[in-house]
Amino acid sequence: VIASFQPKTMAGKRILVTAGPTFEAIDPVRGITNLSSGKMGYAVARAAREAGAEVLLISGPTALPTPYGVQRINVQSAQQMHDAVMAAVEGQHVFVAVAAVADWRVANTSAQKMKKKGDGSVPELKFEQNPDILATVAARTSLAGHPYCVGFAAESENLLEYGAVKREKKGIPLLVGNIGHHTFGQDDNTIILFDENGHTILPRADKLTLARQLVCEISKRIDKYSL
Ligand code: CTP
Ligand code: CA
Repeated sequence: VIASFQPKTMAGKRILVTAGPTFEAIDPVRGITNLSSGKMGYAVARAAREAGAEVLLISGPTALPTPYGVQRINVQSAQQMHDAVMAAVEGQHVFVAVAAVADWRVANTSAQKMKKKGDGSVPELKFEQNPDILATVAARTSLAGHPYCVGFAAESENLLEYGAVKREKKGIPLLVGNIGHHTFGQDDNTIILFDENGHTILPRADKLTLARQLVCEISKRIDKYSL
C-alpha cells in the first residue's frame, strides 16, 4: 500500500539484486556461512520495486519473505549465485550486489558425511577462491555499457579509506559502505556512499528508509546507462 506513495524514479528499469549470505558445503550436512541476514538486500529489492522497477532478487539462504512484486531465485553457494547472476544479467539496467558472498569455498568437500576419528584427529579443510561476482559484472559493463553496478562493503575499520579504495579496485561507479559486524541482522544502519566525487553519509535509519534513499541516489545516476 505504502508502495504507491513512493516516487516512480525507476519506472521501466530492470534491477538485479543479490542478497543474504552464501553457504559453502563441507560435506552433505555441514557448511560455512556468515552472519548476513539479507535484510538490507531485501530492503533494496523492495525499494526498487516501489520505485517502479522490475526487480529480480538472487538470494542466499535467509528467513525473509519475498518482497511484494519481486521475482526471487534462491541459491546456496557463491558459485551458484555467480551462475544465476550471469544467466540473468543481460538486459539489466542496474546491478546491486548486497550479498555477503563467501570469498572462499571448501576445495576438499566430502561426498559423504565425515565421521569422527577414534584417535581424536581433526579434518583439514582446504580452500579455493570463489569468483568475484560484482567484479565480473563490472568488467562486462565496461564492454556493454550496462548494467550500472553498485557494491556494498562491510568493513570493520578505516571505512572512509577502505571504501574509496574498494570502489576503485572493483571498477564500479557507486559503493555503499558500512561498519560490518554492527549491522548484520540489525534493523537499522548508517551507510556511506562512495562515488567518483567523494563520499556522502546517510545518517542512521532503518534499512528500508536507507534503501529508498539509495534507490533514489541510483536513479539520479543512471540516465547515461539507458539500454
Ligand atoms: N562480492 C561479490 N562476489 C564475491 C565477493 C564479493 O559479488 N565473491 C561483492 C559483494 O556482494 C559486495 C562487494 O563485492 O557488493 C564487496 O564485497 P567485500 O567482501 O566487501 O569485498 P571483497 O572484494 O571480497 O574484499 P574483502 O572481503 O577482502 O574486503
Ligand atoms: Ca569479501
